[in-house]
Amino acid sequence: MTVLFDLLKTEIEAQGPISVARYMELALGHGEHGYYMKQDPFGKAGDFITAPEISQMFGEMVGLWACVVWQAMGSPDPINVVEVGPGRGTLMADALRATQMVEAFEDAARVWLVEISPVLREAQKKALAPTFMMPAWRDRFADIGPGPVIVWGNEFFDALPIRQYVRADDGWRERRVGLNDERDGLAFILSMDKIDANLIPEEVQGAPIGGIYEDQALSRVIMGEIAKRVVEHGGAALFFDYGHGEHAIGETLQAVKSHDYADVLKNPGDQDITAHVDFAQLAEAARAAGAQVFGPVPQGAFLERLGMRQRADTLMMNANPEQVPEIDAAYQRLTAAEQMGSLFKVMAVVPPGFGVPPWVE
Ligand SMILES: C[S@@+](CC[C@H](N)C(=O)[O-])C[C@H]1O[C@@H](n2cnc3c(N)ncnc32)[C@H](O)[C@@H]1O
Repeated sequence: MTVLFDLLKTEIEAQGPISVARYMELALGHGEHGYYMKQDPFGKAGDFITAPEISQMFGEMVGLWACVVWQAMGSPDPINVVEVGPGRGTLMADALRATQMVEAFEDAARVWLVEISPVLREAQKKALAPTFMMPAWRDRFADIGPGPVIVWGNEFFDALPIRQYVRADDGWRERRVGLNDERDGLAFILSMDKIDANLIPEEVQGAPIGGIYEDQALSRVIMGEIAKRVVEHGGAALFFDYGHGEHAIGETLQAVKSHDYADVLKNPGDQDITAHVDFAQLAEAARAAGAQVFGPVPQGAFLERLGMRQRADTLMMNANPEQVPEIDAAYQRLTAAEQMGSLFKVMAVVPPGFGVPPWVE
């Protein structure tokens, strides 16, 4: 087991089983031993690959979206351009390159990266160097400077801690993480105490015994902060993630190591842990802050409406023969329903009166 396992064991022995949220928080974000804090997990040599790492076209489409939205806002100067959970910085770098065609946007943009990982902040710095845009880093969205914002995030909410509640025969109980019988590993444990049934949305109250509801408490808080900013200062936000549009019952917590699924409770700190995003929870948090929500729409449809097919054709025309099939494969991977085009979804958050944000309807 890992160093982090020893730390978790100490905490569990002192306090009893911890919530799944606390487990994720430490496994991913522990200051020294957390998965995101000590390594760059992306790419073929890493544990998983994300849309911006598949092709530059993804970030370019986001940059194009940002320009159109900025113009719809009346071209405010300055405009805060914010990415939450920017990974290697590839998406921001590709998006900024695409926005260069609108010179006034480039001049107005103040770039912010909301990132907790020091290793990834270094990677982001390198990725953005050729754009000559000097970003400012923050740990939390709430610390972004004042003024209107254009915010985006890809696979950000799926990395945030969730709590799990299980339908028992006499109500709902929390699923927690404790020690196994041998005390040399972790195990899921059902809490003895019942939780307040009001935490469970009405639509899923009638779940079968054993059914799991995943509560995205931290995601709701962060979405609330973003929506409040958009409503009070103007702006728009766009989120890509994999998940479902309605509240649902089912366990989606998963671990990935070297592009393969792994046991969630094994090797904490050495493998990625995510959960599917419940867009309905995000939408409720945004609406509670007074914002309008559009989508989620399938990622494939969104990218196609933005003109990614045409962009792929242009890149292919200018590419050497070996690159042509790679560009086409990347296009297919990002947009085809059986690949990332359907499970991945896009949701936009705008202030009241903004109208329909481009291509998210
Ligand atoms: C799955 S990665 C996605 C990276 C990138 N958006 C991409 O598509 O390649 C999640 C990102 O969110 C960051 N992250 C995780 N928890 C965070 C938090 N609480 N606040 C800010 N960033 C966080 C990670 O360090 C990482 O950059």
